[in-house]
Amino acid sequence: MGQTDTLCGWDDQKRVDYFVTRGELLIPKRYEQLSSLVDFFPWPTDQSIRVLDLGAGYGAVTETILTRYPQASVVWLDGSTAMQGHAEPRLAKYGQQVYMFLRDLADPAWSAELPGPFHAAVSAIALHHLTDQRKRALCAEVYELLLPGGMFLNNDVVSGAPDMREHFTPLSDRVIQHHLRERTGVEHSLEEIRQARTAMQRPKGQSSHIAPLEPQLEWWREAGFQMVDCYWKFLNFAIFGGMKGEG
Ligand SMILES: C[S@@+](CC[C@H](N)C(=O)[O-])C[C@H]1O[C@@H](n2cnc3c(N)ncnc32)[C@H](O)[C@@H]1O
Repeated sequence: MGQTDTLCGWDDQKRVDYFVTRGELLIPKRYEQLSSLVDFFPWPTDQSIRVLDLGAGYGAVTETILTRYPQASVVWLDGSTAMQGHAEPRLAKYGQQVYMFLRDLADPAWSAELPGPFHAAVSAIALHHLTDQRKRALCAEVYELLLPGGMFLNNDVVSGAPDMREHFTPLSDRVIQHHLRERTGVEHSLEEIRQARTAMQRPKGQSSHIAPLEPQLEWWREAGFQMVDCYWKFLNFAIFGGMKGEG
């Protein structure tokens, strides 16, 4: 039998509400990551690109895309009704430019009836909830949904050298504190940031499947993607992916 909670706890309303309101205390350089994901698109910003947002959550990535590409349409796809409850009012102003699909990416049939093909597929802080086997298969599934010249970019947590964790975690907290001060003028204490991290720790049975970067790059190549690389990285957060050939 496979994993039972394939959403790794993301159907829990309290957890979702916490992430939506306190997410910026959990991810270093969050806005840089969201913005970079779209910066890497090769299309002019007035093009009507079609994008698939995987594990789209409350819509942060979808909204970043639509702000930068006002003519784009985005398929919001997620498995959590609690997240959909946050995404719907947030994305309502984009009307028919957003299509919502409640789907479990752990199910190989997740892509049935999607209005593809897409110029790009993107994902942020979501695919590490899939088993390595599903992550690997997903690369090939997404490849089939893309237009020639299309891109698949994943902004995700990757595992690093365990010895560095002791150093990285407090560094990450300080970077989060610094960026929030610069961005919002609000001073969050390091204790508050530590508490946010602790509050999001998972109970047993809901563990995610954070994988190292290198094998994931290999899965992208194996699926047929070209120009596969890690385009951005800070501590254990990365943006990596590749392009589908034009031919
Ligand atoms: C940390 S949130 C990130 C949400 C959003 N991408 C963002 O950056 O704000 C992780 C998201 O992945 C979704 N997710 C986790 N496992 C999933 C699965 N098996 N199928 C579909 N969505 C999944 C969760 O429901 C949640 O919305």
